[in-house]
Amino acid sequence: MAMLRAAKRAIGVLGPANAQIASVSRKLHASPGSKKIVGVFYKANEYADMNPNFVGCVEHGLGIQDWLESQGHQYIITDDKEGPDSELEKHISDMHVLITTPFHPAYVTAERIKQAKNLQLLLTAGIGSDHIDLNAAADAGLTVAEVTGSNVVSVAEDELLRVLILMRNFLPGYHQVINGEWNVAAIAYRAYDLEGKTVGTVGAGRIGKLLLQRLKPFGCNLLYHDRIKIDPGLEKEIGAKFEEDLDAMLPKCDVVVINTPLTEKTRGLFNKERIAKMKKGVIIVNNARGAIMDTQAVVDACNSGHIAGYGGDVWNPQPAPKDHPWRYMPNHAMTPHISGTTIDGQLRYAAGVKDMLDRYFKGEDFPAQNYIVKEGKLASQYQ
Ligand SMILES: NC(=O)c1ccc[n+]([C@@H]2O[C@H](COP(=O)([O-])OP(=O)(O)OC[C@H]3O[C@@H](n4cnc5c(N)ncnc54)[C@H](O)[C@@H]3O)[C@@H](O)[C@H]2O)c1
Repeated sequence: MAMLRAAKRAIGVLGPANAQIASVSRKLHASPGSKKIVGVFYKANEYADMNPNFVGCVEHGLGIQDWLESQGHQYIITDDKEGPDSELEKHISDMHVLITTPFHPAYVTAERIKQAKNLQLLLTAGIGSDHIDLNAAADAGLTVAEVTGSNVVSVAEDELLRVLILMRNFLPGYHQVINGEWNVAAIAYRAYDLEGKTVGTVGAGRIGKLLLQRLKPFGCNLLYHDRIKIDPGLEKEIGAKFEEDLDAMLPKCDVVVINTPLTEKTRGLFNKERIAKMKKGVIIVNNARGAIMDTQAVVDACNSGHIAGYGGDVWNPQPAPKDHPWRYMPNHAMTPHISGTTIDGQLRYAAGVKDMLDRYFKGEDFPAQNYIVKEGKLASQYQ
């Protein structure tokens, strides 16, 4: 890859990877010697040492510092990611590997990629690499990989939780208790059972399938929309019906859960017009990515009651600014980006990052499903 980048610079290729050059880069192979690896994670402050397995924070840097340094590599860990004076910016020009996480996304723009002359590998500690300009990474011959599957159970469980919280109108009841109130009617007039409702997932990949499996015992009518149909055996076992046309599925759903990556095709997918086609009183849960929604359209539909409840942990941008309108809209169950960063999830994505670094040092391929950009090509769902 270093060869590919050098070759491209020499002949001034900055546009889409050309076939001749791409053929040079068959394997991502770390050249011998010490590598500079930069990791950007969220800061834990006083919580850092409260759990020995809390490896996903900046203070513990995935627990790989001693391992990297014992092999002669340099490992810079920071949470300071924005702007020209940030710690990340200081290391861009000479780092070889950048580890980022969707929970505290370091936005890797085309401009940053251009400055990163030594960069070979972008690893996402978690799932979802949309904070990286993937086309720019592909054009520059970089490899982008994530720890596919690492926190899918963590997210599916959280989605089920948010569906139930919104369906049962739980949060106003909780707030009554905190505020010394007692008003059953104020909760009960819009609280429902999940049983018998139609639930549709938009995207039935790893998380979508786990959600459907978890919903089955609740006695719901399950639908899914995806680019790809689930294997017939599994589809039968889960009992979910495939809906080829998203716009035909949405008006049938009492609950819609979003489980696609953020791509050119899904950015802004839920705009004013599409939300208007959904059932009045629909509940939406989105732990996928904030930018799949039109921010203001969600606010307006929550205000009008067209959306009866909106829940999720993903925002655009992140961290969400204090004046982000989703903080203030009615009937929401929003949190910071937490669903995929349980301790169990952290241990899995930390192990996955370590495994890929080890393979990179040894010149071995990564597990095929981890690649988001490889040899100038984006993974199929990002194309
Ligand atoms: N909130 C969190 O903590 C968290 C954690 C992990 C993942 N995520 C998000 O969830 C997303 C899904 O994760 P996953 O592990 O299930 O991924 P996955 O790749 O297993 O599944 C994604 C599914 O979406 C489908 N899809 C893609 N584009 C589509 C389109 N335009 N129309 C219809 N279907 C489309 C794919 O065919 C695939 O089945 C990630 O990309 C990430 O953005 C969030």
